[in-house]
Amino acid sequence: MKFVSTKALLVAAAAMLGGGYALADPLSYELPDETAEFRPGPGVELAQSNCAACHSADYINTQPPKMGHAFWEAEVNKMKKTYGAPIDDADLKGIADYLSATY
Ligand code: HEC
Repeated sequence: MKFVSTKALLVAAAAMLGGGYALADPLSYELPDETAEFRPGPGVELAQSNCAACHSADYINTQPPKMGHAFWEAEVNKMKKTYGAPIDDADLKGIADYLSATY
């Protein structure tokens, strides 16, 4: 937990400097709201462009891990059919590939 307190000190130092972007930015990946980003992986741009319009990546992050391809394919289909997400049929598989491989 030494690391956490070091981080807290750095954040506090950055705040005291007033707008220390250079100091604050490299730390930001650890802050809670950054979990709303899609995890990096092949096809992440597909998810970014098709899945971020209505809700954050939190909806995906909060699903149980390792649900597999069929689950994610069904999920993507549900977004399209039930919620009217404008997802290209050609992208459905790519998105499910990305989600099942990455989450
Ligand atoms: C047209 C808007 C829209 C788009 C685009 C969209 N969703 Fe959703 N999504 C929703 C709505 C509405 C809910 C339900 C919200 C609620 O219950 O609070 C939801 C909920 C979810 C959930 C939570 C579990 C569930 O089934 O309710 C997951 C996972 C999810 N979306 C994944 C995705 C993925 C992956 C994509 C991209 C392929 C995507 N969404 C694109 C509207 C959308």
